[in-house]
Amino acid sequence: MRSINRIGVFTSGGDSPGMNAAIRAIMRKASVYDLHVYGIQRGYEGMIDGDIRRLEDDDVRNIIHHGGTFIRSARSQRFLQSEHRKTAFENLKAFDIDALVAIGGNGTFAGSLVFSKEFDMPTMGLPGTIDNDLYGTDFTIGFDTAVNTAVEAVDKIRDTADSHNRLFVIEVMGRNSGYIALHTAISSGASAFIIPEEPCSMEELADQVKKALRRKKLFGLIISAEGNHLGNGYVIQDGLKQYFPEQDIRVTVIGHLQRGGAPSAADRMLAARLGYAAVEGLMEGKKNVMAGIVHDKVVFTPFEECIKKDKKPAHDRIELARILGM
Ligand code: F6P
Repeated sequence: MRSINRIGVFTSGGDSPGMNAAIRAIMRKASVYDLHVYGIQRGYEGMIDGDIRRLEDDDVRNIIHHGGTFIRSARSQRFLQSEHRKTAFENLKAFDIDALVAIGGNGTFAGSLVFSKEFDMPTMGLPGTIDNDLYGTDFTIGFDTAVNTAVEAVDKIRDTADSHNRLFVIEVMGRNSGYIALHTAISSGASAFIIPEEPCSMEELADQVKKALRRKKLFGLIISAEGNHLGNGYVIQDGLKQYFPEQDIRVTVIGHLQRGGAPSAADRMLAARLGYAAVEGLMEGKKNVMAGIVHDKVVFTPFEECIKKDKKPAHDRIELARILGM
């Protein structure tokens, strides 16, 4: 087995609350093996530009509760080109980096897979995205915080929706995944929801809302996943107008609020366990896999599977949201 003395860590794609806690855990566990950890700034962009520096204990002091990522993040187009990947590898070699920890989502791991094959660079992935759309882990780092942020927002909207007897369409993030919307709908007691994994017509969505209103409710909260097939919050507002001509319908797009803020305790726990497992896994010779937690156990899933396989909300969870919303 190749010996590892220096690892490079980077965060890539959309940031997510808990990334800092994960880097802290990586640093602490790395110190057990006397490993040096290098922070690669702005993900693959910093790798290409050679924006790399040794991380010290001080860097991860007092950051467990901070959202964002102190080593920054980026979505890199350049890394898709082989000449830039070659430059990235030369930069890593200049720092004698023998292995990488990549914290991000699908796109991040797709890049890592190509890179590690081209240059034989052992890489460990950590699921860092609010979307919770990664196969190989029950939850991704940042998802719980994002849902908490969305629920807090919906609670506030509920007050004003109630006061004015209004319908609100509340759009949440998730790209092509409905996890944030579904968990937000259940936890905020929403009347209806629409997610990409469970397509429905405007009429069916209106029916969900009507059922909720029949319970003598004069207002309604509709959670809409940004990737749903009907369209964004404003399209849904327009579509629902024909079914509820008498009702005021308003739209709130929660947007990037969901990406920031202090990580929840659950996200800090997840980040701690996975950061620790990432270093342990690399030292055991694991490579090109993502560390995740499935049924409360750490598991390592090959990048190929994480990228190819879909993770969808369980059917019974969708049913739960529907029945409790009525
Ligand atoms: O993947 C995380 C995410 O926040 C998605 O939910 C959203 O679709 C996307 O990133 C937004 O990306 P950006 O911050 O680049 O606009």
